[in-house]
Amino acid sequence: MTRYLDDEALERSAVVANCAMNRERSLTGSNGYGRELGIDVLAELAEGARWLDLCCGSGRALDEAAALLAGRAEIVGVDLAGHFVRARPAGPTLVTASVTDWTPDGRFDLISCVHGLHYVGDKLGVLARAASWLADDGLLVASFDARSVRLVDGTARRLTAELRRQGFAYDASRRRISLRGGREVRFPFRYLGADDQAGPNYTGQPAVDSYYRADS
Ligand SMILES: C[S@@+](CC[C@H](N)C(=O)[O-])C[C@H]1O[C@@H](n2cnc3c(N)ncnc32)[C@H](O)[C@@H]1O
Repeated sequence: MTRYLDDEALERSAVVANCAMNRERSLTGSNGYGRELGIDVLAELAEGARWLDLCCGSGRALDEAAALLAGRAEIVGVDLAGHFVRARPAGPTLVTASVTDWTPDGRFDLISCVHGLHYVGDKLGVLARAASWLADDGLLVASFDARSVRLVDGTARRLTAELRRQGFAYDASRRRISLRGGREVRFPFRYLGADDQAGPNYTGQPAVDSYYRADS
């Protein structure tokens, strides 16, 4: 039987604290943020824009962006582990917190999450929270494997249909989810807990499955 972990137990788990995971992605390049997110990050950030990166790892990509943007955009990164690189004094704002309970001040033009949701318990909850932090024409884009969301009494097709109904676009081959435009999202699924023994996902790293029950 699946053992559901709550957030506190999950955040202590070896799968989430895994020191072999890549926390050091660059902004560009073959393994960089642009490639993973399918966007040109800098092109999304007009003068005065705000970029929030959830599960930002070391914050290296944000630091590189801050150098290139030279103050033209505000950059905030959040990560549980707090293993940040701070190469420049005028770099991004880096916050040690869990994306499941941290709340920002204000809205963002770009919200990203590169290979972070794989380790989060309530993945749908984080997507819904992030949707509410987007500016009216802002973009949310995240690595996301719909197969890691398990409905105990429903099908994978029900999940993807619900994501579409709420306005999300899900690219199953690239395992990427996106949403254009801030909104209130309410998924009709109740979060039950996480399984940190799900094994490796498509990245080859051990990841976390998240269990939900459909609202009746
Ligand atoms: C594979 S790393 C990716 C880091 C970064 N996005 C990159 O691509 O270089 C996943 C990150 O998610 C973070 N993480 C896992 N659960 C989290 C949570 N609940 N809240 C915030 N960060 C979390 C981990 O600490 C880790 O740094």
